[in-house]
Amino acid sequence: MELLCSTTSLSASFALSPPPSFPVRNLGFSLSLCKRMQGTRRFMLLCSSDKMTVSVTGATGFIGRRLVQRLGAENHSIRVLTRSKSKAEKIFPAKDYPGLVIAEEDEWGNCVQGSNAVVNLAGLPISTRWSPEIKKEIKDSRVRVTSKVVELINKSAVEARPTVLVSATAVGYYGTSETGVFDEKSPSGNDYLSEVCREWEGTALKANKDVRVALIRIGVVLGKDGGALAMMIPFFQMFAGGPLGTGQQWFSWIHVDDLVNLIYEALSKPSYQGVINGTAPNPVRLGEMCQQLGSVLGRPSWLPVPDFALKALLGEGATVVLEGQKVLPVRAKELGFEFKYKYVKDALRAIMQ
Ligand SMILES: NC(=O)c1ccc[n+]([C@@H]2O[C@H](COP(=O)([O-])OP(=O)(O)OC[C@H]3O[C@@H](n4cnc5c(N)ncnc54)[C@H](OP(=O)(O)O)[C@@H]3O)[C@@H](O)[C@H]2O)c1
Repeated sequence: MELLCSTTSLSASFALSPPPSFPVRNLGFSLSLCKRMQGTRRFMLLCSSDKMTVSVTGATGFIGRRLVQRLGAENHSIRVLTRSKSKAEKIFPAKDYPGLVIAEEDEWGNCVQGSNAVVNLAGLPISTRWSPEIKKEIKDSRVRVTSKVVELINKSAVEARPTVLVSATAVGYYGTSETGVFDEKSPSGNDYLSEVCREWEGTALKANKDVRVALIRIGVVLGKDGGALAMMIPFFQMFAGGPLGTGQQWFSWIHVDDLVNLIYEALSKPSYQGVINGTAPNPVRLGEMCQQLGSVLGRPSWLPVPDFALKALLGEGATVVLEGQKVLPVRAKELGFEFKYKYVKDALRAIMQ
């Protein structure tokens, strides 16, 4: 699993645009000029041209790490907003990420102020055993960080205020169904996760009216380094893989690279506003997903994991895998977004290569 989950090392160089209190590591333009003008619209025009400064919460997570790599590869400046500097420094060592700024909560204000954009990905993982305390923290962690980020954006001086907030939410917004089909116009569900998503989204929407807000309702993200797949692969490799529960539940997936591209487009294109489903165009039932995974791994997919076993393991959290929803990326298609991975088989093949 360690081998399968290893993160690719990154050699891209990072442009520098630190807030005044951060050390200078790398220069791409006249520092004295930029320091004087930092935080002003003119600064952004003169010193960054089409380069952005992006503050990211949850940057140390599965999706965030890939996003940081992508932004870095395009020479944008990145500010990692984390709860733990030491953890983030291990994930983003200075030698591989020169110019990357890492900030704990008391420094987040310095980072948000003067950023062009904020991406909000923070939240306690949901694929654990749910206790009342965990359930509370699943919601609170998302609402708390989103609320903090929105407050910092709104508090920023107008000239230094980020112009866009891309905030994660989840397809759990729609509730679960074996028969329904959901797009961005569908109503919200009435279970716990839909309630979490409604509050999470509502908090992001409190950003000032001059800030463009894109809410990405993310499906199950497929990638080698984390998420659902990293949990499923070891079972298949032990010849013990198979559908979870009935296998009839919908599995609205997206390849991590497509999701990162979608977030990237949302940062840079003004037409990306409001709710956008972050799911591939061809969702599958979980049974099919497991069959495809088994075939890509050269392992059988014959040992179904029964509902009761998952419930014993995950408690109420088992609903995350035992129930799903069929979600279509209608907005992304309208916006002209090109999915690199439209079919789960291709996504899995690319991931396992
Ligand atoms: N992966 C998926 O399949 C999927 C599907 C739908 C929605 N999403 C949403 O997309 C976002 C990113 O997903 P991910 O898979 O990259 O998540 P992840 O790997 O679990 O990372 C999330 C990050 O959130 C921060 N975090 C964790 N617990 C927290 C807490 N109690 N309070 C505040 N911050 C906390 C951590 O950053 P620091 O330690 O640096 O602060 C962590 O690195 C999440 O909000 C998730 O709900 C993901």
